[in-house]
Amino acid sequence: MSNIAIAPSILSADFCNLERDLKAIANADLVHVDVMDHHFVPNLTLGEPIVGRICQVTDLPVDVHLMIEDPDRWAPEYAKLGAASVSFHMGATHAPVRLARQLREMGCKACFAVRPAEPVEPIFDILDEFDMVLIMTVEPGFGGQKFLDNQMSKVRRLRDEITRRGLKTRIQVDGGVSPKTAHIVAEAGADVLVAGSAVYGAENPAQAIDDIRTKAEA
Ligand code: DX5
Ligand code: ZN
Repeated sequence: MSNIAIAPSILSADFCNLERDLKAIANADLVHVDVMDHHFVPNLTLGEPIVGRICQVTDLPVDVHLMIEDPDRWAPEYAKLGAASVSFHMGATHAPVRLARQLREMGCKACFAVRPAEPVEPIFDILDEFDMVLIMTVEPGFGGQKFLDNQMSKVRRLRDEITRRGLKTRIQVDGGVSPKTAHIVAEAGADVLVAGSAVYGAENPAQAIDDIRTKAEA
């Protein structure tokens, strides 16, 4: 089995046909759900009631990406609803270790997210507290933006650190991932690829997932 996981982002799905659009990505490894609050990012998406229903109707592990203020308060609520993993942002959390431990105690994977202008090095000292690190390759807030390849050195530095210490931390990349950029992020060391517009903007989302996987593994 391949080590690369593909996580379609439902931000680019049809919010009036979510169940249909979840079925369309059955060959994915995770489903990525972007929660935005109009404060941490200038967009507003969905919250607990809809994430709870998504967890009930999909067979895929639900990967919640919190782009909200005060994740210390809200992240555990998503774990309670059945999220397999919850990401929260470096620029929003006050006590990342406490929150990561709380999520893990609830059986949920903890993931630390880093925006393009934030360095990854501050995470190194607490890396073992996390199951995954999310490197944003666009400014968070919207789908369909251009991939920032200047983030690849950050992915490489993180991969080197994980390898050097023999950790199992996964590296997720989010923003502008497509069949065209998949090999770049995989080569840099990412192993969880989020793709929104490249999957749901395609005529055949399942085929787009296969294409991204094939390019990443090439
Ligand atoms: C953006 C979100 C992404 C978004 C990616 O803030 O975190 O998950 O859906 O969309 P694409 O793949 O279109 O860049
Ligand atoms: Zn996301």
